[in-house]
Amino acid sequence: MVERTLIILKPDCVQRRLVGRIIQRFEDKGLVLAGMKLMRIMPELAERHYAPHKGKPFFPGLIEYITSGPVVVMVLAGARAIAVCRKLMGKTFGFEAEPGSIRGDFGISMTYNLVHGSDSPESAAGEIALYFTPGELLDFTTADADWLGRPNEV
Ligand code: RTP
Ligand code: MG
Repeated sequence: MVERTLIILKPDCVQRRLVGRIIQRFEDKGLVLAGMKLMRIMPELAERHYAPHKGKPFFPGLIEYITSGPVVVMVLAGARAIAVCRKLMGKTFGFEAEPGSIRGDFGISMTYNLVHGSDSPESAAGEIALYFTPGELLDFTTADADWLGRPNEV
């Protein structure tokens, strides 16, 4: 079951120059880039992205954080990509995230947690459409695809 998920390397990730190391984690696991861009998220887009959190006490700080500097936005593809990426990211707060996960290894903050990943097929579809046009996404097979999983197993 090949899925696509939206991943954002948040402003702290870019400022701390962790972009290459974090992308490496996803690539090492077997996920494949389908699209990627460096951009600044404007407040209107941030509020649409995080609309499910509107009204919560941390919402204003979340919008301020995600719009505070450049981010790297990407679509990753792979078997069960949504759940696999959430697992690689770890729990939301750095101080709770397991060692070995991205948030567990690189941060300790509640808000500054380095990376966003879609949490369901529905949110992935909606979030991908917020950041990419269909023409910006590529569907291709990597040379090692056969070694990442038998076609009939996923
Ligand atoms: P994300 O949406 O960014 O991938 O993170 P998540 O699913 O793990 O966490 P979520 O509950 O969706 O929260 C979205 C982002 O809001 C900030 N946050 N701060 N101070 C707080 O209590 C609090 N709670 C959440 C985090 O930056 C979190 O990633
Ligand atoms: Mg979330």
